[in-house]
Order: sequence, then C-alpha cells, then structure tokens
Amino acid sequence: MRDINQFTITDAVKSSFSTEPGSRFESLLHGLIEHLHDYTREHQITHEEWMRVLMFLYDCGKISTPERHEFILLSDVLGWSALVDMINSKGGATEGSNLGPFYLDDAPRKDLGAHLADGRDGVTVLVHGKVTDSLHNPLAGAIIDTWQADGAGTYPIQEQEQGQDKFDLRGVFETDEQGRYWYTTVLPKPYTVPYDGPVGELLRAGNRHAWRPAHLHYIIRHPGMAAITTEVFFENMEYLDNDAVFGVRRSLIATLAPARGTVPDLPAEAKFDAVVEFDFVLAPEG
Ligand code: BEZ
Ligand code: FE
Repeated sequence: MRDINQFTITDAVKSSFSTEPGSRFESLLHGLIEHLHDYTREHQITHEEWMRVLMFLYDCGKISTPERHEFILLSDVLGWSALVDMINSKGGATEGSNLGPFYLDDAPRKDLGAHLADGRDGVTVLVHGKVTDSLHNPLAGAIIDTWQADGAGTYPIQEQEQGQDKFDLRGVFETDEQGRYWYTTVLPKPYTVPYDGPVGELLRAGNRHAWRPAHLHYIIRHPGMAAITTEVFFENMEYLDNDAVFGVRRSLIATLAPARGTVPDLPAEAKFDAVVEFDFVLAPEG
C-alpha cells in the first residue's frame, strides 16, 4: 500500500474489505467505491468541493428527526427514490411511485362508500375502480390503503398541533366480490416538499421549485400478490411535468370527470362534484 496513488487506490480500498466473494454486499460495496472514485477523478474534486458535500450531508443529518427524514427527501429530489421504484415495478402490474413521508401503518378500516373528508372544503370527488390481476380477474378482498392532502394541499398529520386528527383523509378499504372499491373524498391540491433545509438550498441552487402535483397515495395488497405502493394523479393539473420528486408516470394519471349522477352501489345520499376512476393491477409475488 506504500506505493498507492490516485489510480491504484480504488483496488486498494476494495480489497481492504474482507467480504464474501460474489456476495450482493460485496458487489454493492465495490460498485459504490468504484463510482465514487471515478466521479472524483473525472471531476478532479477539490478540497473545498469535497468538504461542501460532507457539510451538506452533515446538515441533512442535523435537521432530520423521526418525522422529517432529509436524506429520503434528498433521494426524492435527485430522482433516486423514483429510480428504485421504477426498477422494482413488476411488468404487467400498476407502476409504483413515491411512498412519501406521510404514510401511517395504522389508519382506520372504512366501509366501501365512506367519505374521507367530513367537514372539509373543496371539490368532492368520487374515487372508484377495480383491483385485478394482470389477466383482468377481479381480486376480491384486496386491501386499499389510501392517504392524501386536503383541498389546501396540507396533510392533517402536518397540523396535529392545531388539533387535526392525524387519521383524517385516510382509509383502509377492502374490495368487494367483484374487486371493486369506491369512496368519496376532497380533491387534494398541489403542495411543496419541505424546502426550509439543506435540500431546499439544493433546489434553489439549481433553480428548481419544490412543488408536487395533486395526488392520492395508495398501497394495495392481496394475499399471494406483490403489494404496490403508488400514486394517482389528475389529468390537466399543474406540475405533472415537473414534479419535484419525479413521481408522475403517464399510466398513473387519471381523468377527473364531471359528476355523472349515480354510480352503482354508491349510497344514494352521497354527493360529489367529480369522478375519478382508476383500476389497480397486481402481479403475483416472487
Ligand atoms: C408526498 O408525496 O407526500 C411527498 C413525497 C416526497 C417528499 C415529500 C412529500
Ligand atoms: Fe403526497
């Protein structure tokens, strides 16, 4: 190692680890070292630039709390989260998209047809569709876990200190015998990802905004099928083509149609201004 130089250091660092030959850990670690060293050589990184990156990461750690994970936000705005979602989406199934930071794994079960937005202002929308396998066979008993922002672009969990119920605008539904689901809610508005920290600084340095287009979040599960985490967006809405976290996919954009009266199985007293229909497709596990 005495004769180490900027070209031999990469192999020296790789072989300093005693990893199991051919293991996944070894290949990920070696790949990381190679890419980091190549990047540094290619760009002839200066001490100032190197320290700037380390201080940026330090600041990300400093502002992070269990509720605010700045490193995930960094991954989101760099498109890394979206890339992992894309790589792990199964062919034939609904494409995956961001989980985001506002998921709660203990949201209440609700009956089909429930309204998720009692007492909230905004456009009331009926959301309905089916969960099927890739051959269009309905999946009865599929679990639809959904959460969303309100008609002002805020998640209730962000306003708990002002007395908001953190489970508001959330629900867990089970599809009926025909794989159908339906509920009413308020149309969410676009909102910004947090930009008062180091990631916001990065966005500003790159002349980028922090907005996400309006969306509904979903996790869909069914025994024997691979669960999907995804989002549904609305046609003709702002920021579809410049989502701050690259979550939009063409296949995830639904049409927001004006209300067309009744929809089968919906309680007659339900009132809504618009209708969104979206079908989810699950692929087998494994
Ligand atoms: C969200 O969609 O809820 C979200 C995603 C990434 C960062 C912040 C929020
Ligand atoms: Fe969201």
